[in-house]
Amino acid sequence: MKLKKIDMFEIEKDSNFAARVLVLSAPAAIVFVILAIFGFLAPFSAILSYVFIVLFNMIFLSPMTLELQHLKKYINKLALGENIEDMHLTEQEAKGIAEAVNSMHRFWVAKTDALEAEAMSDAAVLDTLPDPVLMIDRSGNVLGANLAARKLLGEHLTEKNIENIFSSNNFITATQKVLKKESEAENLIFYTTPNKQKIYAHIKTLPWFSKGRAVAVISLYDLTKAAKIEKLQSDFVANASHELRTPLSVISGFIETLQTTAKNDETAREQFLSVMAEQASFMSDLIENLLSLSKIELLQDQIPADKTDIGKIALEVIDALQLKAQSRAINLVLEKPSRLKKITADAGQMKQLIQNLVDNAIKYGVSGSSVTILIKEVNQIPPSKTFNVAEGKALAVSVNNKGSKIEPEALSRLTERFYRLQEHKNLGIKGTGLGLAIAKQIIMRHRGNLTVSSSNKNGTTFTFYIPFKI
Ligand SMILES: Nc1ncnc2c1ncn2[C@@H]1O[C@H](COP(=O)(O)OP(=O)(O)OP(=O)(O)O)[C@@H](O)[C@H]1O
Ligand SMILES: [Mg+2]
Repeated sequence: MKLKKIDMFEIEKDSNFAARVLVLSAPAAIVFVILAIFGFLAPFSAILSYVFIVLFNMIFLSPMTLELQHLKKYINKLALGENIEDMHLTEQEAKGIAEAVNSMHRFWVAKTDALEAEAMSDAAVLDTLPDPVLMIDRSGNVLGANLAARKLLGEHLTEKNIENIFSSNNFITATQKVLKKESEAENLIFYTTPNKQKIYAHIKTLPWFSKGRAVAVISLYDLTKAAKIEKLQSDFVANASHELRTPLSVISGFIETLQTTAKNDETAREQFLSVMAEQASFMSDLIENLLSLSKIELLQDQIPADKTDIGKIALEVIDALQLKAQSRAINLVLEKPSRLKKITADAGQMKQLIQNLVDNAIKYGVSGSSVTILIKEVNQIPPSKTFNVAEGKALAVSVNNKGSKIEPEALSRLTERFYRLQEHKNLGIKGTGLGLAIAKQIIMRHRGNLTVSSSNKNGTTFTFYIPFKI
């Protein structure tokens, strides 16, 4: 016992210390009273002895009481998860209790860590699922939502009631049916507001042995994309079968002539074969462009991430189209700043875009003139009436060719699928009428814009804008 460490004033009032001292001293008090009554002990000596015993008990009990008091504070702090400084206990029993409490605490900390790690890895697995999943309690409050669900329905879903998340009455009724145990599982298709997404929902009760408050799981499948793919496929089949009909009938007509009337006509055979080869190559261009258009439409919601050097791509396109330009005696000119910042864009699509515009300029420009590609930075993309364009700085790429003015009514239709100017059809210039439709899709994916101007003096200029950052 280290008496010097004891400070009686530290003892809490509600610790029953005084009562304990008095109870412990009571037997001695009784003995002294009896001894005093029978005259074996003088009353003064009896009182003195009693006081001495009380003092002895106080000194003997106080260290233990104080340490128990410390121990109580320590356990309370542990329970509250507060930072605990080291305890300096001297009593053997108190040390033993503290050690037992510590090892119990260590055990629970390890167990909690393991449970937390398990919960986090479960959440990580759920987050990798491509479809939204929500867990709800008996009242329809969300207990957990994976990443896909948070993306579709917004952050902070936890503790919100499904009635405040979904606006579809059919969906809410179906969920309540499952929650009231009127049905094991419900399946339905509904539309979200305001995005009008088509969603297939599967609501199912959890098995009875699942722990916690969760009673049902809602799995959602976004059918918008599947519907879009379906439409793309049917558009593709419709377009391809319609556009291939003419060249196919030309080819089969020539085959028939070659088999019958022109069977032995050497000159006609040569001529017909070359027309057939031309039609076959047109058919393959058409299929290639239609496939390319479908592919771009499929990627439409994917934000491009490549760092792309447009100046370098323009040079590559010029190289690739040099021979074609020479065949029309057209001079290809590139004007660009010496230092050009890279843009965030799909490099493959940028090449296709510039190629389609330069190819048109060579094809429809006046032979013997120049086609000029001009690249510059602009502070803002001109707005579009039909789609949203990105804010902020952008690259502007103009492709100019000389030629007669395109009338405004025709100008506004150039990016329509299969639209071609009558004068070019009459001149027998080949084309699928899809190059500019492809260009427009690529530009829309990058949240840019396309403008066209045309005059007899300056010819026709197509300018596309791509933001530095989407
Ligand atoms: N630079 C241009 N000058 C004049 N007319 C043009 C120019 N670019 C396009 N056009 C007109 O717009 C039409 C559509 O162009 P688009 O590039 O979409 O198809 P295409 O060139 O006919 O076919 P493809 O690109 O598949 O070879 C062209 O047929 C042509 O009539
Ligand atoms: Mg074209």
